Parts: sequence; C-alpha cells; structure tokens
Amino acid sequence: FAAEEVAVHLLAWYGHCGRDLPWRRTRDPYCIWLSEIMLQQTGVTTVIPYYERFLQRFANVSALAAASVDEVIELWAGLGYYSRARNLYEAACRVVAERGGRFPDDLQGLMALPGVGRSTAGAILSIAFDKKAPILDGNVRRVLIRLYAIDEPPRATAVEKILWQRAEELTSAERPHDYAQAIMDLGATVCTPRNPDCSVCPLVGLCQAYCLGMVEKLPRRQPR
Ligand code: ADE
Repeated sequence: FAAEEVAVHLLAWYGHCGRDLPWRRTRDPYCIWLSEIMLQQTGVTTVIPYYERFLQRFANVSALAAASVDEVIELWAGLGYYSRARNLYEAACRVVAERGGRFPDDLQGLMALPGVGRSTAGAILSIAFDKKAPILDGNVRRVLIRLYAIDEPPRATAVEKILWQRAEELTSAERPHDYAQAIMDLGATVCTPRNPDCSVCPLVGLCQAYCLGMVEKLPRRQPR
C-alpha cells in the first residue's frame, strides 16, 4: 500500500472516533509538553486529574519555574517515575532563564530539554506546532509493527531504525496535529496489546499482520 493511504483512513476515523481529552483543547506548548511528559509512563485516565490540578497550580512555564522543586514533586505524588517531575522543573527553569519563557519549536531544541526524547519531541512538534514530525511511543510502535508485520525483536537496533523510517513516511504533511492524536488513539483504543479490535480498525484493509493472521502474535515478546 502507499504510505499516504494510512493517513487518509486514520484521519477519517479520528474525525468520528477520536477521544476528547483535556489536552486536545489547547495548542499551548506548555500544556502539550506537560501532558506528554505525564503520558510517557502513565495512562490517560490516571493522568487527567493530575494534569488539571497541575495547570490550576502552575498556569504557565514561568509559574512552574518560580516554584520549588519540592512543591512540584508534591503535586506529582502518586504519578510515579519522579525523575519526570524533576526533569519537568529543570526544563521549565531553562525555558524561562535561557529562552524568555518561549518553548523551542524544533526537534533539536526540544530534545535538549531534560525528559524530552525523540518521540516526545515529535509529539510536541506535531500537536502544539502542527509541524510534521514522527512519533514512536509504545502505542505507535505496536501499530506499525502490526501494520508491516515486523516479526523481529522490537527493540533490535535495525528494527528501531525501520520503525522510525516508517513513522516518518506515514506522518501526514497536511495535518500533523490530527495525525499524531489519531495514531496514538488507535494504539490506545483499538490496536491494543491484547484483544485488539480489528473489526473497527480503519487500517484493517492495509494491515499485513491481519492479512497473515498474526495480529495476536505481534509485537514479538522481547527475548530475555
Ligand atoms: N499518549 C501519549 N500522548 C498522548 C496524547 N496526546 N493523547 C493520548 N494519549 C497519549
């Protein structure tokens, strides 16, 4: 199939099946960055109340940078992976001190912030700035491995490289913002690790794993 077909199906599906999540009502890079950091290791339902409380207390990056790290950790309590909170605070301080409170709007600048890896940078670029940038988080990884029936250990360097390439090819140049949310939603709600619901999947007609009857077998479990 042609790479462009994926975005066409995905965007049509997202139009009527996409989730209404609090961070989808803003394009403020501060809010998008905060949501993406929280969502790195934590599910949507847990994140929502934390996200809202956090923004009530720290409405913008200057407010966050003016806080103490202890206060930030306190608001984070229960979310886990506390290095995320420390990195968040450190990044806020840098954005304020070095950039006058303006978030970077390029891959390099974003990845220079503590806690922001390539995939999170891609998510912020697409969602906040509507710039074409690939995302490869856990959900997207699973979707792509099934779509292309990649029957290899998912963390192998060669596979990693292919997945980033595919992610890049598939990303919509016209609607990066919607595409990013759509592919993450598909992975979170339809193309789930167990019992994926292929009957409602917009990509079922393109999916090589589906065609080969391998959906449940992929991604391959990581060898120990
Ligand atoms: N997981 C990571 N980023 C997300 C987002 N923006 N929406 C839903 N789930 C996500």
